[in-house]
Amino acid sequence: MLPTLTPISDNTLWETLWAPYPDLYEEVLAHIGPEDIVLDIGAGDMRLAIPMAILARHVYALEIQSSLIESALQKDLPPRLTILHEDARTYPFPAGITTAVLLMRHCTHFRLYAEKLKALGCPKLITNARWRMGLEVIDLQAPRPLFDQISFGWYTCWCGSTGYKPGPVEELTEETFDNTHEVATCPNCSPSVRSEAR
Ligand SMILES: C[S@@+](CC[C@H](N)C(=O)[O-])C[C@H]1O[C@@H](n2cnc3c(N)ncnc32)[C@H](O)[C@@H]1O
Repeated sequence: MLPTLTPISDNTLWETLWAPYPDLYEEVLAHIGPEDIVLDIGAGDMRLAIPMAILARHVYALEIQSSLIESALQKDLPPRLTILHEDARTYPFPAGITTAVLLMRHCTHFRLYAEKLKALGCPKLITNARWRMGLEVIDLQAPRPLFDQISFGWYTCWCGSTGYKPGPVEELTEETFDNTHEVATCPNCSPSVRSEAR
């Protein structure tokens, strides 16, 4: 008999489930160098944090679920890995991070994590949280225009949303279609964030 499946309607609950992304690890590792100090946000059982810690100067791996921390502690852990059993929403991120990794397709706290990292001067975030497929490397310190200030085309927002801002079809070229605008606000941002950003 098949088990009864309970539908998951809450994104926050999704985030606390463990769904590793083994197809992305090689790509992430290609961005990690020997000078990097890495913060892995939602590190699961450390299956990516461990190879990152072999390549990087240091890796801090944040994970909220006790069972995953326990299973990670059974492994042969490299010395340059610090495992933190903490909630990434409230835990103050360590200073000096050069690369953050957020593999969490159903992340509902993208803006919070991006703000915390930016405030610490972290230059780079590697993530699948916005497009929810594949990886992107985000320049966290780049200036971002408001939604109203971009013309038209694909956009990725500081809030974690993505979308397409419509515009005149006759002005659409391959170049404009391939270009993605990084914006500080978008129609999905909360009204308070939108008015604050003005
Ligand atoms: C989709 S899994 C990905 C795990 C890992 N990044 C990987 O690719 O193998 C997301 C992980 O983030 C953890 N997580 C979710 N919210 C968190 C939070 N607020 N603080 C720390 N970890 C969190 C979950 O427990 C889960 O292990």
